[in-house]
Amino acid sequence: MKATAKAHTNIALIKYWGKRDEALILPTNSSLSLTLDGFFTTTTVDFQANLTRDQFMLDDEPVEGESYQRVSNFLDIIRTMAGKENLYATVHSKNDVPTAAGFASSASGFAALAAAGTKAIGMQLDNQELSRLTRQGSGSASRSIYGGFAEWEMGGKTDGSDSFAVPVAPAQHWDIRVAAVVLSSTVKKVSSRAGMKRTVETSPFYSGWIDSIPKDLREIKDAIKTKDFEKTGSIAEANCLKMHATTLAANPPFTYWHDTTMRVMQTVQEMREKGIPAYFTIDAGPNVKVLYLPEDEGKVKETLRTIPGVTDVILSKPGQGISYL
Ligand code: DP6
Repeated sequence: MKATAKAHTNIALIKYWGKRDEALILPTNSSLSLTLDGFFTTTTVDFQANLTRDQFMLDDEPVEGESYQRVSNFLDIIRTMAGKENLYATVHSKNDVPTAAGFASSASGFAALAAAGTKAIGMQLDNQELSRLTRQGSGSASRSIYGGFAEWEMGGKTDGSDSFAVPVAPAQHWDIRVAAVVLSSTVKKVSSRAGMKRTVETSPFYSGWIDSIPKDLREIKDAIKTKDFEKTGSIAEANCLKMHATTLAANPPFTYWHDTTMRVMQTVQEMREKGIPAYFTIDAGPNVKVLYLPEDEGKVKETLRTIPGVTDVILSKPGQGISYL
């Protein structure tokens, strides 16, 4: 009862920012992302009759505490689905997500865990069922089931049965690139989970955020279909700025940005003034991801690397969905 799966992380171009149900992880808005080849998690799940609790090893180190509990709680969902409540597992995960790059490893982590866990316990789920399950580990992970561009449809039901990701366009549809800009200084982190909760509960800007999503989604899907880079990039950049604006109006207010974050944002806008189409997006942390076209790779990397406070620039192409090893 053992299986290994690999999943890549994804970067949201239209952000998921807010839950309507915290236990089931049901979002207040639909979101859309690009899966990236450069960052992935490989996970082996091995269910064994002699175990009395789960074991979780991350990069060969045993994990306990909150991270262990999230993994074990997620395995509970799989056990219940399979009707094998008393069967525990060893979980070995390896992260090829440079943590410094500021990519949440929870997206690739829960996607790989869902795929390996369900296969190991003997279930055969299609991608939609797998995405719906993965969502309950971490919302953004629901999109990592698919390669290329994927949309997580928020759904409307209270049981979550219609909240899962669907493919929008495969990785080979369009070769656009993402540079992860790594910054030297770190700030005290408000987790995405805590940050979105505070924003939903207290930010007067939140309703504006929600109202603006359907149009952003409609337009970015058109732009992706027609491979309109400037339209795709400008919608993504504006959507990111809107999400971060909601945090400034929360109570207490907060921001994920620091000075270097803003320096990178300004540099990207200056690149555009010089005729290089490049656009930024930022998740729940200070690091910036920059979208650009393959022909501008040299110039974009060089420009980003020379910004004071930037320690590394990691380049990535569109990546594939879940795979079994
Ligand atoms: C800003 O998926 O990490 O990256 O569902 O609570 O696990 P949970 O949150 P998570 O939130 C990601 C938020 C984001 C935007 C996005 O990826 O869409």
